[in-house]
Amino acid sequence: MTSVLILNGPNLNLLGTRQPEVYGRTTLDDIEAMCSDHGQAIEMSVEFAQSNIEGELVNHIHAARNRHAGIILNAGAYTHTSIALMDALASVELPAIELHLSNVHAREDFRHKSYIARVATGLICGFGAKGYVLAMDALKDHLSD
Ligand code: DQA
Repeated sequence: MTSVLILNGPNLNLLGTRQPEVYGRTTLDDIEAMCSDHGQAIEMSVEFAQSNIEGELVNHIHAARNRHAGIILNAGAYTHTSIALMDALASVELPAIELHLSNVHAREDFRHKSYIARVATGLICGFGAKGYVLAMDALKDHLSD
């Protein structure tokens, strides 16, 4: 079975109560359950993780190298700042989907820059929690090409 890492960065542990007008009311636990259900439907096994700490996210990406076929990454604000996460993704050479709940390009200018996009296979943003399921389908499709 295809196995993927779904990795979430800073402040995403607060989903559900964090700026619900921007990010919706779905919690990260709800999203994990949604991904696990969808994984069963499309025969994809899912490891789900979250950290507020940049170095821990780097460690998760390194650990994915021999365990997973791809990565779905919502790096939160580190998307716009972290050369370390970009380098980690480039180092493990796994296909990666950059994901955001909100449409970052319709928001502040500082959210238009993404270090992750430079090394990602593709980008999904603006579809709220459903984006996670869309990213799983996109990665599955990409891996079967
Ligand atoms: C986010 C968008 C980022 O700009 C922001 O810093 C986040 C969440 C999103 O999912 O829409 O923390 O990644």
